[in-house]
Amino acid sequence: MKELSWAWYFFHFAFFGACLGLIYTVYQGDGEPLLASLGFAGIAFSASFCGIQWLGDSFKSVGLKGKDISKKGKPELPESMGAICAMVYVSAMIFFLPFAFYEYLVTTTSGGGNRDVTIELQEVETGRLLHRFPHNKLGEYLSAILSLQCMILLGIGDDLFDIRWRHKLFLPAIAAIPMLMVYYVDFGVTQVVVPTPLQPYLGHLVNLGWGYYAYMAAIAIFCPNSINILAGVNGIEVSQSIIIGLMLIVNDCLYIRIPEHPATDSHLFSLYFLLPFLGVSLALLYHNWYPSKVFVGDTYCYFAGMVFAVVGILGHFSKTLLLLFIPQIFNFLYSAPQLFRLIPCPRHRLPRFNERTGLLEPSRAQFNKPPSKPVTLMLEILEKLRLVKLWTNAQGEPVEVSNMTILNLWIVTFGPMREDKLTMGIMAVHLVAGVMGLLMRHRLALLVFSQDN
Ligand code: UD1
Ligand code: MG
Repeated sequence: MKELSWAWYFFHFAFFGACLGLIYTVYQGDGEPLLASLGFAGIAFSASFCGIQWLGDSFKSVGLKGKDISKKGKPELPESMGAICAMVYVSAMIFFLPFAFYEYLVTTTSGGGNRDVTIELQEVETGRLLHRFPHNKLGEYLSAILSLQCMILLGIGDDLFDIRWRHKLFLPAIAAIPMLMVYYVDFGVTQVVVPTPLQPYLGHLVNLGWGYYAYMAAIAIFCPNSINILAGVNGIEVSQSIIIGLMLIVNDCLYIRIPEHPATDSHLFSLYFLLPFLGVSLALLYHNWYPSKVFVGDTYCYFAGMVFAVVGILGHFSKTLLLLFIPQIFNFLYSAPQLFRLIPCPRHRLPRFNERTGLLEPSRAQFNKPPSKPVTLMLEILEKLRLVKLWTNAQGEPVEVSNMTILNLWIVTFGPMREDKLTMGIMAVHLVAGVMGLLMRHRLALLVFSQDN
């Protein structure tokens, strides 16, 4: 990879220093965790930025590389750079740990945050100080890190060994076990609030029991995989994750600005996990933006999806989370005929690069034998709705169909375009969908639920 300019090094040196300074001030002052979290997010940004720059070629030399299929000459780029981001992220979360619980670690105080007044030794021995510590919150935090670490390891495994699709689909469910276990022990809440119009029939709350755990496991499976299948164009994996992350941060801020809101703690928890995530993702986006110098790898897709699943589940806002995943849900449903092999699914479904024009065109799936009657009918209807492009033989039987991803659909609708235009178009879709999701959550939800919880 090309060397970074001195200006960049100077920037990182100054920025890293400023963030360290911020953390030190927080440590000296009242220990405001949110400020410390911002400091760690900044450090995580600089560390991943430089880490990717310095380690990219080493990754390539041990075989972690991939061909940039949509470029002339298909240059080889370092793959799995998400692993660097993930490692930096986990380290930042571990260093942040004492700050997250700062108030409990130093509240040997007279109430005003005065740390000079220390607690009597026998008080500590009788356990009065200890029992005030929120072990359940620590458990939540640690289980979230453990689940993320499991997911990152499985992601690296996938990048190294290219695990089969039907197997890797369920890897996140394994990674989610530590987090679900803590949920079971700490909350065990498996009731959901029933929308007001249905309350006369079902009551105010419905207990989903084990179904609720299945639902949470399904979210943990869905988030990582849905990001991984909305992939293959420079910058798309990271930019969608950044937009979802930003929307969740906005959502968290909407809660914590209300004084004494009962959900403040879970939204602070979510911010602590999202700010450093945004830091590492922005660094990765710089290197992965068109024309990419590195690839993010499945590690990043899984890691990003799992960060969202963790904050959504432990922060108790999984429905809001799903509202922000509407483009991914659409892409998954639209992909379903290929994922479930009703229609052939080639190894890569990313749009096809036309070397002559330099533009992306819809890529195609080929039928080895004519598809069955119902499948043909389905394809014809989808073509009428302009949702796919179909190529037929002289007898009118389908021989090829555009691959069913929103990336191809965008090109089918708006015509061939350059790779970065496609990424920006899909980013705009995400942004609009995200804002609408949040509006639905905070405005329309009041129509079907009696209160905004
Ligand atoms: C998923 C998709 C696959 C898509 C691939 C692209 C499904 C079922 N699978 O597979 O259709 O083609 O992601 O990531 O939908 N690449 C580029 N440019 C990019 C990003 C990736 O050319 O901007 C290529 C590189 O060769 C890279 C490879 O895609 O090495 C990574 O593919 P991988 O993540 O292993 O594919 P899957 O996640 O299995
Ligand atoms: Mg992938």
